[in-house]
Amino acid sequence: MRNTILFIFTIVTLLCAVLVYFIPQTGTIILLSISGLLTTIVIHDSIQTKHSLLRAFPLIARLRWFFEEERDKIQQYFIEDNLNGTPINREKRSIVYQRAKLEKDTVPFGTQHNVYKKGYEFVKHSLFPKDHHHIIGERVLFGSDKCTQKYSCSIINISAMSFGSLSKNAIMALNQGAKMGDFAHNTGEGGISPYHLQGGDLFFQIGTGYFGAGKHDVNGKRFFDDETFKENAKRPEVKMIEIKFSQGAKPGHGGILPAKKNTPEIAAIRKVTVGTQVDSPPSHSAFSNYDEMIVFIQKVRDLSDGKPVGIKLCVGNHKEIEEMIKAFAVAKNYPDFISVDGGEGGTGAAPMEFTNYIGSPLIEGLVFINQLLIQYKLKKQIKIIASGKAVDAFDVVKLIALGADAISMARSFMLSLGCIQARECNLDTCPVGVATQDNELVKALVVEKKNVRVKNYHNKTITAVKEMIAAMGLGSIADLQPNHIFRRRKEEIVSLEEVFYNPKKVG
Ligand SMILES: Cc1cc2nc3c(=O)[nH]c(=O)nc-3n(C[C@H](O)[C@H](O)[C@H](O)COP(=O)(O)O)c2cc1C
Repeated sequence: MRNTILFIFTIVTLLCAVLVYFIPQTGTIILLSISGLLTTIVIHDSIQTKHSLLRAFPLIARLRWFFEEERDKIQQYFIEDNLNGTPINREKRSIVYQRAKLEKDTVPFGTQHNVYKKGYEFVKHSLFPKDHHHIIGERVLFGSDKCTQKYSCSIINISAMSFGSLSKNAIMALNQGAKMGDFAHNTGEGGISPYHLQGGDLFFQIGTGYFGAGKHDVNGKRFFDDETFKENAKRPEVKMIEIKFSQGAKPGHGGILPAKKNTPEIAAIRKVTVGTQVDSPPSHSAFSNYDEMIVFIQKVRDLSDGKPVGIKLCVGNHKEIEEMIKAFAVAKNYPDFISVDGGEGGTGAAPMEFTNYIGSPLIEGLVFINQLLIQYKLKKQIKIIASGKAVDAFDVVKLIALGADAISMARSFMLSLGCIQARECNLDTCPVGVATQDNELVKALVVEKKNVRVKNYHNKTITAVKEMIAAMGLGSIADLQPNHIFRRRKEEIVSLEEVFYNPKKVG
């Protein structure tokens, strides 16, 4: 094969040379140049020693690499239908773009979903729908009896994504959008940057690297530092604190900041070495058992002058989680909220096995936590925030029905910024300037345009939630119960109350 390719290119080059000799026209010269270039590539490919495929199939192997690398894009642009793009299908991506840009967000002709397919979910409407303008419950008061600065929280907020994983323009647009729409923006575990301080409400996240909340010891190990934390936690923009145990996309693994994205500015904010990959430890050094955890939560609450303090986790070992909730009940001290992230959650960068095979999916995790809070009579004190591929109003309604008080969205808000799901967040090459630190690419994201889209997407989704609640004949978002959502299981239809809360009832 290799010799055949070499032979063909040599013949083509000779032929071009003959053509040029007898018909010296511009076209022929161009042809000769192209042929010469291709021949050079073929010779280079066949004598290089790095890639065996290229040695065996000079030039041709490059085409294979091209299609392999660009397969996702070709699939997305030319093959994908409305319901099968991953991780977020085209129908869901489109609704975010439409709502963010205030474009027409109706669909023509009828549903594309197979309503008789196993797994199909829906809500039942009332004969007497309400006016959605009168639906209440779009804000929920967060803060247990341990907290002195309660926070009236929108039911939809921006989930944790740090400056580092996202660009400064993305962070600014998100924060300004949150301010315009009166909802909150989670800092992510990379600390608070000037780009977070655009006037929007903040949830200040503390990860295991304690960026913005810690210092280094002499061995370079990071530890929680009261004064550093206090300085940030007391900022008026910071409304709640979230201690991150794990996230669904990589539970049991600390955060990863790829070396390419660790710019001098980010390194200065996180106090790490510029240009190196920064791996946060898998667990906290500030506590190592449930009792110490409870003491730490109270310390964080005290240092922040009584703001609500929560923990974020993806549900793993059930026994441990139950022991933790029991410890809260016994100590009569607890976090003000638990953020439950699903295994289907997003990330800037994660090991493949952690993303695909570790951590409970959101629905199972959410129901498990909710049941424990009911069992240990903590439901009134501890609110639940749920995250994991919530995009449209049905996702929000379903998660609230299953026990969540509020929803965090990460990738939906990225889409509202113009993310095209290129899935290059770990490479620093995000073509739309959302998840990159390359200044040339970051410029593509115009903050003054995208901040409004963030606000629009939030507002339109809240309205869509109210419209669904009104169609169901309910008066408040808080009235939602698991028995309001139905799923086709085999050929029968059962309520999610029966699936998750009362399985014995199922015949
Ligand atoms: C680019 C990116 C960066 C993220 N960074 C963090 C982080 O710093 N801390 C964290 O707890 N979760 C982080 N996450 C996870 C999200 O906060 C969220 O829990 C998860 O993506 C599920 O929400 P989604 O399905 O709406 O994206 C990140 C997700 C993405 C996509």
